[in-house]
Amino acid sequence: MRLRGRKGIREALEGQPELVILEPEQFKGRWSEVFGNDRPIHVELGMGKGQFISQLSALNPQINYIGIDMYDELIRRGSEKAQLSREEHGGDLSNLRLVRYNIESIENVFDSRELERIYLNFSDPWPKKKHARRRLTHANFVNKYQEILNENGEIHFKTDSRSLFEFSLNSFADLGLRMRNISLDLHAEELRTDLVMTEYETKFSQKGMPIHRLEVVIGEHVLAEHLEQLKKQM
Ligand SMILES: C[S@@+](CC[C@H](N)C(=O)[O-])C[C@H]1O[C@@H](n2cnc3c(N)ncnc32)[C@H](O)[C@@H]1O
Repeated sequence: MRLRGRKGIREALEGQPELVILEPEQFKGRWSEVFGNDRPIHVELGMGKGQFISQLSALNPQINYIGIDMYDELIRRGSEKAQLSREEHGGDLSNLRLVRYNIESIENVFDSRELERIYLNFSDPWPKKKHARRRLTHANFVNKYQEILNENGEIHFKTDSRSLFEFSLNSFADLGLRMRNISLDLHAEELRTDLVMTEYETKFSQKGMPIHRLEVVIGEHVLAEHLEQLKKQM
């Protein structure tokens, strides 16, 4: 993603402490206090310009959302998108926080079982084999996600990259994780507008590229429910 340098971005971000968090490690284990309630917390890792997390948080005020990216400029754009989403859908920004952080140390930001859902949308594919460990679905990352997700924990993953999707299927399977709703072409029959679209998804879908999607069922409660449902279908 190409970024323009902008003077004063940092100051602008520091001026919005109710929305933007630049030093998130201090809140590890205390995110409920940040939001002022015990509602479930859903996080997008690598939110880019923030279209997805802004819209989703406007549509679901009963869920707390955190969008994470590592660049100031993207956090600034995310905050603009967040304001626009509220003008469009109404409501306030109290259920959304935008966090500037490198996901590699995510375990320093969230405590064990602090999150209910992780969204991985169009994560960088890192196609070279020597960079496999940087892929956000590498086992090293997924182990961390398993630790910070709670009894209802799920990972929702979307990508246009066939090679990253294949790699991720193997990564989740090698860890013995249960996957569901696997799609190789999410919008094949009709545009799934019920699932909020990301910037990259809009761009690639318009070009006719297939979007791959799956959900990983992690938490013991949601896993038991899922297995029960499967039994009933047999
Ligand atoms: C290809 S973009 C996808 C953006 C958005 N999710 C979408 O679907 O439109 C990937 C994003 O992940 C962010 N990212 C990649 N690695 C990261 C890391 N280690 N920590 C934080 N953000 C990261 C990048 O800065 C970029 O904004």
